[in-house]
Amino acid sequence: MAALGLCSACGGPQSSLRPAGIEAARVAELFWWMTAVGLLIWALVIGLALYVTRLRPAEHNVRASRWLIIGGGAVFPTLVLGALLTYSLSLMSELRPAGGEPAARIEVAGEQWWWRVRYLPANGEAVELANEIRLPVGERALFRLSSPDVIHSFWIPALGGKLDMIPGRVNELILEPTETGVYRGACAEYCGTSHALMNFQVVVMEPQAYAAWLTHQAAPASPPRSTVAERGQRAFLANGCGACHAIRGTPADGRVGPDLTHVGSRLGLGADVLPNTPEDFVRWIGHTDRVKPNVKMPAFGMLPEDELAALATYLSELE
Ligand code: CUA
Repeated sequence: MAALGLCSACGGPQSSLRPAGIEAARVAELFWWMTAVGLLIWALVIGLALYVTRLRPAEHNVRASRWLIIGGGAVFPTLVLGALLTYSLSLMSELRPAGGEPAARIEVAGEQWWWRVRYLPANGEAVELANEIRLPVGERALFRLSSPDVIHSFWIPALGGKLDMIPGRVNELILEPTETGVYRGACAEYCGTSHALMNFQVVVMEPQAYAAWLTHQAAPASPPRSTVAERGQRAFLANGCGACHAIRGTPADGRVGPDLTHVGSRLGLGADVLPNTPEDFVRWIGHTDRVKPNVKMPAFGMLPEDELAALATYLSELE
């Protein structure tokens, strides 16, 4: 039963045991080898222990025992651990950012407690997004990882291993997804109160769909489509939201918080702690501190309800 319970955690969009990328497949392969050899040795040791205590509890030959200690206690572990070490080291080279030009170059900065994501297209200007990553399937993506505040760790279990994001330096990570789908990433290093609320979704798409998505994300926001959304835009600008957030194509050009130009197109809100619906926008803007303790964005619960609703409509429509 316990094993069954454990296995239920092996699937899902955030599992390194259900790999959807070349690097994650290597990591899973190593895990299963280590587990299998570990189990085999465990069975061997338990078998020997049962043999000498239950089956043949008589006195044993001293010479044979000495050879068993040297062989089983020194030679055997050296050989097994040496083989596993050589094997795991041989996998490392495949996880390094070598080889040809990657199809996507993405800078990701871990910040308390969200992700600043900048796409650097080969031709054209950088596009700043937040809290969501999309990748083309079957192509190598190069991540340049950093942090402006404390140490975070970038981890998409289904696509590859984790890598620390360290203030003052840039760490590079290559990931090559092999299956389209939606996966989940998380911060894997304790980074303050809301460390556990620092997640993101990863959408692996066909290359054409990916290119269309990136072109759309690079475009400025479309103007409000309804009078409610127009009212929301006025509220956004009047309440100073633009001091921290940018919405390209409007006077809002803040750099402190996440870019919101196409926030309505994302799969989650607040670094994937809430679903992306107008109701959740109201909840987030009105009670940021309750949704994500100690978050830097102040709560705007003092705004009249209809103004909050208008803001939510405006932001939801920024697709
Ligand atoms: Cu960022 Cu934990």
